[in-house]
Amino acid sequence: MQAGQNWGRRWRGLAAMLGLCALLGGCGEEAGAPAPTGAAQAVPADAALAQLYGASCRQCHANPAAGAPLTGDAVAWTPRLAKGLDTLLEHSINGFQGMPPMGLCMQCTEQEFRALIEFMAAVPTEGR
Ligand code: HEC
Repeated sequence: MQAGQNWGRRWRGLAAMLGLCALLGGCGEEAGAPAPTGAAQAVPADAALAQLYGASCRQCHANPAAGAPLTGDAVAWTPRLAKGLDTLLEHSINGFQGMPPMGLCMQCTEQEFRALIEFMAAVPTEGR
């Protein structure tokens, strides 16, 4: 009884350590791997949305040279989000300075624009 309890505690401790290890990104691996840029690799989880994103928004919003707020770049998106999602949606559809009308996604619906903006403006949780 006593011994059984000790083992139970030990296993829980080990499981917690392994869980923490997974959260921290795989203990000791990828020492020499180049740091992912985030914007270049981020893709919406939804397949249909990923398709639209890859064919349009991504050309500029994952390209630092385009002057667009990069996908997942909280610093770039925070002041834009402050304008309100409705304004961002309006700017996506009608264009805004360097941002072309419809973001070159002529088949995108309003709902898809909204989802794409939310995706790009969200800070990726993977990594740290
Ligand atoms: C041809 C390049 C290009 C494409 C394609 C593009 N964007 Fe943009 N986008 C820009 C640039 C450049 C800006 C920054 C405009 C500025 O603030 O001067 C911008 C800004 C934005 C903004 C912020 C607008 C604001 O009011 O601050 C949103 C939202 C946005 N884009 C959404 C999208 C979506 C959604 C798509 C895909 C459907 C897309 N963009 C595709 C270039 C692009």
